[in-house]
Amino acid sequence: MGRLQDKVAFVTGGASGMGEMMVKLFTAEGATVIAADINEAALEEKWGSNEKVMTVKLNVTSDEEWEAAVVKVVDKLGKIDILVNNAGISTEKGLNEITIEDWRKLSDINGFGPFLGMKHVLPYMKEAAKGSIVNISSYTALIGMGLNPYSASKGAVRAISRAAAADFGQYGIRVNTVFPGVIETPMTKVLESSQEMVASLVKMTPLARLGQPEDVSNAVLFLASDEAAYITGAELVIDGGFSAR
Ligand SMILES: NC(=O)c1ccc[n+]([C@@H]2O[C@H](COP(=O)([O-])OP(=O)(O)OC[C@H]3O[C@@H](n4cnc5c(N)ncnc54)[C@H](O)[C@@H]3O)[C@@H](O)[C@H]2O)c1
Repeated sequence: MGRLQDKVAFVTGGASGMGEMMVKLFTAEGATVIAADINEAALEEKWGSNEKVMTVKLNVTSDEEWEAAVVKVVDKLGKIDILVNNAGISTEKGLNEITIEDWRKLSDINGFGPFLGMKHVLPYMKEAAKGSIVNISSYTALIGMGLNPYSASKGAVRAISRAAAADFGQYGIRVNTVFPGVIETPMTKVLESSQEMVASLVKMTPLARLGQPEDVSNAVLFLASDEAAYITGAELVIDGGFSAR
């Protein structure tokens, strides 16, 4: 019996990095998983032939696309037990290079996207009187790591997660937030070209290594599962101790 046996889990950003690992883990634990992503080709390449995975092309900033995706899933599978708002983008730009368009784009995808996901999935969870939502923020929302729209958008994720936890606990719905540190995924590919940067990050990390997608996905699996039945509004930092210093 898997830890997510017979659950239906909707994972955004399911075509790459941590989201891809979540889809893998969740299906291995007995869930049917909806891998949603803006990158349709990557979805097809990764999950096209997996019968435990339903792929959905979704731009998380689109209210209409969210509505269509959620209705499609509920029509086909009858419910959504778990939502992981994981899709996101980052920027390497410093304060002087950031444009207003950059700020709006990051806020839109990273901050507004999770809001829309909750807006569309919560009514179904409310009707079912159960559900687990895990929102992916970042350690940059907690410590001073860049005056940029990325940190700001991830701070928004923290705030809306707490609000949703407070508002929807009465309906049996749990909402928790995960704050990854530096994790080796396509998003942090830029690190491959700077061994110096990697060495300095590792030096600042008590557990003395960068994170891997499974470090985060294992924690998300726990929070998504019934093992975390009394956990809501929690904030779990997964950064090897980086922000504890
Ligand atoms: N990698 C890190 O070091 C790190 C650290 C902290 C937080 N995070 C967060 O973790 C999450 C996953 O990041 P990752 O490292 O796996 O990145 P990734 O780039 O490997 O994967 C992100 C996925 O999101 C998808 N995506 C981007 N914009 C989208 C949109 N508008 N609609 C739907 N899908 C979209 C991409 O196509 C991609 O498949 C992100 O929210 C990221 O901000 C990452």
